[in-house]
Amino acid sequence: MRQNLLRADSALLRYPIREVVLIGKELEKLGEFSMIWENIGDPVAAGESVPEWMQDVVQKQVASDKSFAYTDTKGAIKAREYVLEHFSDKRKCTIDDILFFNGLGEAINKVMNNLPRETRVLMPSPTYPSHATAEAMHAGCSFISYSLDPENDWEPDIEEIENKVRYNDHVVAILVINPNNPTGSVYKRETLEKIVAIAKQYNCFLIFDEIYHHMTFDGVKTTLLHQIIGDVPGISMKGISKDIPWPGSRCGWIEVYNAEKDENFKGFIEMILLSKMLEVCSTTLPQIVLPHIYQHSEYPSYLQSRIEKYQRRATQACEFFADIPQVHVNKPKGVFYLVVELLELPANRLESINKKVRLYLNQLETPETPADFQFCYELMGAEGVCVVPLSGFGSAVNGFRMTLLQEDDNIFTETLERIGRAIRAYYPQS
Ligand SMILES: Cc1ncc(COP(=O)(O)O)c(C=O)c1O
Repeated sequence: MRQNLLRADSALLRYPIREVVLIGKELEKLGEFSMIWENIGDPVAAGESVPEWMQDVVQKQVASDKSFAYTDTKGAIKAREYVLEHFSDKRKCTIDDILFFNGLGEAINKVMNNLPRETRVLMPSPTYPSHATAEAMHAGCSFISYSLDPENDWEPDIEEIENKVRYNDHVVAILVINPNNPTGSVYKRETLEKIVAIAKQYNCFLIFDEIYHHMTFDGVKTTLLHQIIGDVPGISMKGISKDIPWPGSRCGWIEVYNAEKDENFKGFIEMILLSKMLEVCSTTLPQIVLPHIYQHSEYPSYLQSRIEKYQRRATQACEFFADIPQVHVNKPKGVFYLVVELLELPANRLESINKKVRLYLNQLETPETPADFQFCYELMGAEGVCVVPLSGFGSAVNGFRMTLLQEDDNIFTETLERIGRAIRAYYPQS
């Protein structure tokens, strides 16, 4: 090539949730076994079948010519009306403050990319990697973060947030993921109110990723951004990948709150809209379908039965890990993931399925490989279970994230047993 095609910051472009799959697929081939995929939050891929009533709704809308046309750049009007009426607050947001994207993943990238390069969004750690990577690529250097504390149910460290905002005036926004991926925590209202107060005091805006707002256990309710934001400018991010669940639809949206209260913030939102206009609009069909699914008489009980399954899985997994002294888990209050913290994680190797697997795993090892990546590679090679290392979520805490999605009871139990076996073999016997 006449010029170098690689950006100087290309090393920042990472998405470990799928990167582990490339390694897992190679191991499957070499070891001639079938991997249990515990890496991705896709309920359908995990075996949940799409109910007939939902397929009927989609088929009915496909039969309408409108579903073949472009929509407004902001999104289909009925979808935006539904969102405003049911998920938002008309005192903070209007129909024009709702913008649809091809998945929340796209919205995250559009929000980060349209910020001036020198501005920063303070991220949680651990965090969902799309946020961290998009923010890092926008800034051209590593993301900056506040800690979620495993000793305090993964609640955010408020003092750290305040200090990082106070002493770094490049920080213009604070990101909160609530309910949280990967930790499964659902934050206390008072914690969230403190974060809003910090944003207000230091003239920042808020980004709340609320894509899991429906997925909470045992009567816990999500405190939504619009309930506590007051007059601070903010963005709520939601989508249909998790609660409908239709991740393949690539359909998510942002609700902008208090845009009128700050000209500068309003200008930034207009940039997001203009950059979306370059693509005309997001895919029409899922937007047209959205109100019909959420309003369907079968939807509430269908959602409830899914949540009950995740709750059961969470209870079973937490009871299982409670017997393994080398790990620590916090029982999730929602979402469909479990983080297993690996305490004082050593470096080790497990007996692999065969020699070819061992040779491949040896090649992956470099002095820079984080300890929990090393464990997860060994777990794949020895037990055929693919989970995501916690450091892949930008965390300083060693561990991994598994899902609670598995449809088959026996496979779920078997998955836990395989993971447990790997952990026990990985730690030196005392
Ligand atoms: C916290 C969080 N935000 C955003 C997304 C992206 O969702 P979408 O499928 O709409 O791109 C995910 C997907 O796993 C997620 O967990």
